[in-house]
Amino acid sequence: MKIWFPLKYIFNSKYRYRKNLERNQKRNLHHSSEFTKYNRYPSIFKLVQTLYSNQESLKILSFGCSTGEEVKALRELYFPEATIVGTDINKKSLDKAIKSYRKENVYFIKSEQEEINKHGPYDIIFCMAVFQHRKNRDIATQNSEPHYPFLKFEGTIIQLDKLLNKGGAFIIEHTDYNFLETSISNKYTPVPNQNFYRNRPLYNKNNERISEKSIPEKIFIKQG
Ligand SMILES: C[S@@+](CC[C@H](N)C(=O)[O-])C[C@H]1O[C@@H](n2cnc3c(N)ncnc32)[C@H](O)[C@@H]1O
Repeated sequence: MKIWFPLKYIFNSKYRYRKNLERNQKRNLHHSSEFTKYNRYPSIFKLVQTLYSNQESLKILSFGCSTGEEVKALRELYFPEATIVGTDINKKSLDKAIKSYRKENVYFIKSEQEEINKHGPYDIIFCMAVFQHRKNRDIATQNSEPHYPFLKFEGTIIQLDKLLNKGGAFIIEHTDYNFLETSISNKYTPVPNQNFYRNRPLYNKNNERISEKSIPEKIFIKQG
């Protein structure tokens, strides 16, 4: 049963927290849902693991790590030797991550530029299910701008690019926009033969809905 908004706001603390976050962190917040699960993207993780199998002392950033399951899976299943930093704008989620997964060389930090910079630079940056807005999935939505402008997506990509080492990778999944349309994308090459299509709307840099399918590439390598 759908609860009427004010009632839900009063009785559902998780919902209330998210609504307050949407209001108070409007400028920096991307996707506000905290949904996640352990090993959510096995085929993408596996491919990234293969690409970096010869590289020692990797430093990985999980941007938008939510309650920490992504970091846990990366560490336990794919990158046991790496230093992994998880960051999230939702303090409640971050607190949960800190409490539930304490390991050497795993850090959970606030999503503030200074903090993220301090732990960098990184060899791999995962941005999974962060750069999107739930309203952009609606059938009627033809123009994304009021919900989630391209410039907001691109602005964060530009910041993160500064922290990514040459030869490093950006992994961007479940996004409303195409990484290859950003102004820094000329420094990157998509890993060939990726076939990670999703049935979900895609918007262009003018915020117009242009497809009902994502692009197939999720992994982009920064050229040296
Ligand atoms: C749907 S969850 C994705 C969790 C995980 N990456 C996954 O794919 O399962 C989106 C997360 O992005 C976080 N987020 C949104 N804007 C952010 C920002 N500016 N900095 C860091 N995290 C952010 C949200 O708080 C939320 O936890």
